[in-house]
Amino acid sequence: MALNPNVDLRSDTVTRPTPAMRRAIAEAIVGDDVIGDDPTVLELERRVASLTGKEAAVFVPSGTMGNQLGIAVHTQPGDQVLIERESHVFHYEQGGLGANSGCVANIVTTPHGAITPEMLDEAIEDHTDDHVSRLALVCSENTHNRHGGVVVPIEALRALAAAGRERGVRVHLDGARLWNASVASGIPIREYAATADTVMMCFSKGLGAPVGSILVGDSGAIRKARRIRKRWGGGMRQVGILAAACIHALDHHVERLRDDHRRARDLAARISALPGLRVNEPETNIVFVDFEHPALDLAAVYERLEKRGIQTLPYGRRRLRLTTHLDVDDEGITRAAQALQAVVEEALAPSRA
Ligand SMILES: Cc1ncc(COP(=O)(O)O)c(C=O)c1O
Repeated sequence: MALNPNVDLRSDTVTRPTPAMRRAIAEAIVGDDVIGDDPTVLELERRVASLTGKEAAVFVPSGTMGNQLGIAVHTQPGDQVLIERESHVFHYEQGGLGANSGCVANIVTTPHGAITPEMLDEAIEDHTDDHVSRLALVCSENTHNRHGGVVVPIEALRALAAAGRERGVRVHLDGARLWNASVASGIPIREYAATADTVMMCFSKGLGAPVGSILVGDSGAIRKARRIRKRWGGGMRQVGILAAACIHALDHHVERLRDDHRRARDLAARISALPGLRVNEPETNIVFVDFEHPALDLAAVYERLEKRGIQTLPYGRRRLRLTTHLDVDDEGITRAAQALQAVVEEALAPSRA
């Protein structure tokens, strides 16, 4: 197996299935999941429904499809969806809530990703007035990627859930990295899931599966999601081979997320000692490195890191994102920190001319 000799910190989606996960894939018992008789998919869906305390679950190819189905099941064309400025649903889903569900985004800005009941109140207008569109849904995200992998506090999610219930607004939670939130905070997945009507979770990020996400909710919502998934071309046949990887990930890769979080903290601590840079204090597996010194050119640093075998992800003009995961060990963290130190010192060295 050709392994990547680089330290690849671009994303936690870059992991390759471990030998044990590949064995689980090879040995999976499969059926036809569109007909509904793939036993491994059924087992995964039952297991995650039970883990989250929801009635039902539907396996989907991607987190994006899971979020978009969550939006589709709770809304009608013309409805408003309240979303956060830095959320994945806003930034990275190509306006899918408009394109797929005919909804309009009502966007709020928050310091750390938590939408408040006051923001919800503010967004609600009297839709008995025929001019006004109905606010049908609010979407949260946890952990919150573009806020640096922060864990959105459970109290904030509970307050939003209560406000939503009171005002007849549904709640969808983008829990692509809810596993990380749960491991970092010690709060069970089920408690986070109780704050939303539907929750999407990914197996293909920190959990290290090659493909796969899941949407959970009550049986009515999931029945509807299953129908729309088929309409969107997301019905998959002998997909137990992927569900087997996800079950393997649930059994073996959840608790180890602690290692990713420890490594992110370690990496950030080393970077904080370097000149010209500012770094977050990671709560989970995401490190944001901000370029403060005017002589530090992001494109140049990025390229020099690549040359040294350190892969990172530019996030705008002055920030790099470094994400820890299953395929980065302690030695990789040391290599990355040393490379960044060398590149930054080189860039900031006074000209010898
Ligand atoms: C917070 C969040 N939500 C949703 C997704 C979408 O997942 P996918 O890439 O599987 O569509 C991502 C992907 O990175 C994500 O970070």
